Amino acid sequence: MAGGSDVAEAALSCALCGKPAHLQCPKCVDLKLPREDAAFCTQECFKASWSSHKSVHLKAKLCTLGTAETLGDGWLYCLKKGQGRTPKLPHFDWTGTLRPYPISSMRTVPSHIDQPDWAIDIKSPEQIERMRETCRIAREVLDAAARVVRPGVTTDEIDRVVHEATISAGAYPSPLNYHFFPKSCCMSVNEIICHGIPDARKLEDGDIVNIDISVYYKGVHGDLNETFFVGNVDETSKQLVQCTYECLQKAISIVKPGVRFREIGEVINRHSSMSGFSVVKSYCGHGIGELFHCAPNIPHYGRNKAVGVMKAGQTFTIEPMINAGVCRDRMWPDGWTAVTADGKRSAQFEHTLLVTESGVEVLTARLPSSPDVFPWLKP
Ligand code: MF3
Ligand code: CO
Repeated sequence: MAGGSDVAEAALSCALCGKPAHLQCPKCVDLKLPREDAAFCTQECFKASWSSHKSVHLKAKLCTLGTAETLGDGWLYCLKKGQGRTPKLPHFDWTGTLRPYPISSMRTVPSHIDQPDWAIDIKSPEQIERMRETCRIAREVLDAAARVVRPGVTTDEIDRVVHEATISAGAYPSPLNYHFFPKSCCMSVNEIICHGIPDARKLEDGDIVNIDISVYYKGVHGDLNETFFVGNVDETSKQLVQCTYECLQKAISIVKPGVRFREIGEVINRHSSMSGFSVVKSYCGHGIGELFHCAPNIPHYGRNKAVGVMKAGQTFTIEPMINAGVCRDRMWPDGWTAVTADGKRSAQFEHTLLVTESGVEVLTARLPSSPDVFPWLKP
């Protein structure tokens, strides 16, 4: 650091001690910063101020280079893994003098160019037709599983029904061996948020159980889940499950070309908090098609930083997990089972969706033959 230089007009007072100031920080002069904050009475005061004073140089430099806000539309700082963007430089204990700069919005690639698996792809009419077939099989498998839910049945027995129904349809149960998942579907009882492993426990009167079905057929995946009542369930659980169903319906109702993915979380958050429930943040909806899980990432919580806008031909899931108590989750030692941190119950519903020119097609929609198990859907 260089010493302070002489101040021409001495009407200023020392930034440190307040005495009449005769020196000015040369760096501040270079950067044309306000003279009032840059004046010092002596070298001693200047040196004593240096460790805190120098930060004004960096701040000034970042300002003159332009923040995301001054740069204009599409210029934002990247957050973790590119999942989020922000107009303000995030806080971090930067290790050197280098800082990230705002980044412009994502460039597009013409549709005739082949896309790798991380691109949000637009499905061809032929791919869409295969998605319809696959999602219909997934729906029928879920309905078959729903019909055997009752007190005394083990979740392993329901998994067997799922497995048989899937292979009878000529499809592969996508969860089986997916990242070494050991069973053909996920079954999440009571405080399990998602990814519960079917096991030897018998369902009990008063339980709630989510059955999550994913199948792979003709080269594409379909994914849906519903939460069922086992026998007689307490009032809070009934409200939780109905509220979760409504959260998914409300989220689906806003899907159409041009809507931002981040809006989905706003709709779900608004509805669940109205009933005093909380939204899980650790697990999100996802793009789906030739890949089981791909872009876009779809958070279900409010004020999320999801990037992108819906376009006709995209297929993705919405699958809100709503908790009776706190939103925080923990993982069982099996590395799969996600449970609520407070042990209170969690419910979930999921559909695979197609964005159409006019709105949305629910590819995993209920069929006339689907079992009539939800009281709020009864005529
Ligand atoms: N529908 C679940 C999901 O999208 C399927 C998980 S399969 C598992 O997360 F193998 F990962 F459990
Ligand atoms: Co899913």
